[in-house]
Formats: sequence, structure tokens, C-alpha cells
Amino acid sequence: MKKAVDKPERHRYPSSEGMLSFREAVSVWYSRRFNVKLNPKDEVVTLIGSKEGIGHLPLAFVDPGDVVLVPSPGYPVYSISTLFAGGESVEMPLLEKNGYLPDLDTIDGAALKRAKLMFLNYPNNPTAASAGKEFFEKAVNFAKQHNIIVCHDAAYSEIFYDGVRPPSFLEVDGAKEVGIEIHSLSKTYNMTGWRLGFAVGNADVVGGLAKIKSNLDSGAFDAVQEAGITALETGDEVLAPLRDMYQERRDALYEGLRAAGIEAAKPEATFYLWAKVPKGFDSSGFSAHLLERAGVLATPGNGFGASGEGYIRFALTVPVERTREAAERIKKAL
Ligand SMILES: Cc1ncc(COP(=O)(O)O)c(C=O)c1O
Repeated sequence: MKKAVDKPERHRYPSSEGMLSFREAVSVWYSRRFNVKLNPKDEVVTLIGSKEGIGHLPLAFVDPGDVVLVPSPGYPVYSISTLFAGGESVEMPLLEKNGYLPDLDTIDGAALKRAKLMFLNYPNNPTAASAGKEFFEKAVNFAKQHNIIVCHDAAYSEIFYDGVRPPSFLEVDGAKEVGIEIHSLSKTYNMTGWRLGFAVGNADVVGGLAKIKSNLDSGAFDAVQEAGITALETGDEVLAPLRDMYQERRDALYEGLRAAGIEAAKPEATFYLWAKVPKGFDSSGFSAHLLERAGVLATPGNGFGASGEGYIRFALTVPVERTREAAERIKKAL
């Protein structure tokens, strides 16, 4: 980045679809990581962070009265961006008994007829669940049958545990016919404040998003994209120690919460931990209790949609010693 900002040409208006050299680096990364081939010219668009792409996508494809299927609990931007486009979001509950995957067979038929777009997100925020290729195959068939665009948000694909690498939605046959996948450099490369991400897959969907962007923003800062190329070219020698760090925190919090009598799923990926609130509390009440009695901040599950009630989300974003201390304080506060 420091080298890139010294180049005068990096300070011009960027192109709204992103530098071709960055999009080429994305295509090489996809081939290396997922064995998925992408044409950098029309199957990749640079984003100013993945949130920007999620926020703009419905403006390209959703008309007033259209339905967008969103996971619940889920990252709130899926339903907010739907609202901004005049669409109606219909929640797909993610339940523990289904491994936090939506049960596509139970989606309301009338809503399905109006559905244009479906957001999916694995590894999942807030439940920390992963999806296998079987589920993605099901989603592709479902999208074809009902003529729905799929937007798979894979922001956490590189924060995984125990060496189990989550698959890409695009690894499944036919996925590129129905949708796109969104990634973020925020989580994988700790570039949160730099605002850089990308969307890849179906050329028409990528093109629709690029058209909206050309009218609303003027693309990501070229120097940041140049730094992004360097990031995408780094390998496991940089990423493995980061994963080990999160895994140590995950193990510390998971064991600590269990010792405090709190039921939780052991995260397979992401830097979140999704736990059940103890009897006698609701999500907001337990969150307030932890803040007041233990000095620990965790997000109430109902903030992610109705199906999040009864749960609370912890973030593994503090050092392991503080994580252990937090678990100890929670134990004392119960
Ligand atoms: C599921 C999910 N998608 C996307 C984002 C946005 O990330 P960014 O805009 O930094 O790429 C987040 C951030 O928390 C997230 O949790």
C-alpha cells in the first residue's frame, strides 16, 4: 500500500468494476483455492467491501413487490438492502435441528412465486455453521426450479478450524448459471478498514451489480486494490497462524462457557460463537446481564432476526487471555 500510494496514476478515478489486475488476481486465487475458473473480464467485480456489494445488489434486480429470501438469524444488511430497493424480505429460519441450514422445502409457495433473489451465507454469521456441497447442490436446483438469483456471501470462507476448508458455492455444477459469490478482504487479511471485497460468478448478475456501482460509486481506491493483489498472493504461511490464533480463542471460550453451564455449538468456522441463553433469560436480558455483571459484551441473537431469539453471539476478537478471563467472569456472574 505504501508503495502504491506513491504512484500518481493510482490517485485517478478508479474504474467502477475494478482494476483488471486485481480481478485477475481474484481469478487466480479462486482457481488455487476452489479449483473454480472465472473470467476476470466479466465474471469478477471489485467491491468497496462485501457490505457494499450486498447493499447494492437488490437495486440491480429487485423491483417493488418482489420478494428476497433472507436467512434468519442473518447479517442484517440482506433485509435492509432489500427494503431500500422496495422489496419484501421473507425470512428463512436457520434452526439448530437443521444444522442452521434453511429448509428450502418449507418456504411459503406464494412468497416463492414473487421471489427474485435469495441470500445465503456460509460459513455463517452469527451461527458459525458451515454448509457442505450437498446443500449448495440443493440450493442450485431450487434456484433453477423457481427462477431465483442466489447470492452466496462467503465473507468467512478462510476463517475455518481443524483444517476443514469450507467449499465455495461455485464448486457445485450449475451454480454459475444461477448466482454469484461475495468475498471480503476484511476478515481473511485483516483489511477491515481498507474496504475491499469482490463478487464473482454469473456474468449477468456481476454485470448488473457493476452497472449500479457505475451510477453510485466510482470503485475502490486503486492503491487499495494493489495492496489487495499482494494479499491474495499470500499463502498459508500468513493465513495459518491467524487461523491458529482464532482456534485457540475458540477453544478457550467454548470450554470456558461449557464450564459456566452455557450450551453452545463448537464453531466450525468464522470468529463467532453462537450460544444458548440460560433458562430464565431472553436474548436481550442475558446480553444486558453479561454486560452489567461480568463486563462482557456479546450481541443478543434476536438482533439477527426472529429466529435468533434465545441465543447470544460472542466474537473471538480479543486476545486469548482476555477471552479466558471473560469466560471466568461469566461463570461468576451466573
Ligand atoms: C456475513 C457478513 N458479510 C459481509 C460482511 C461485511 O464485510 P466487509 O464489508 O467488511 O467486507 C460482514 C461483516 O461483519 C459479515 O458478517
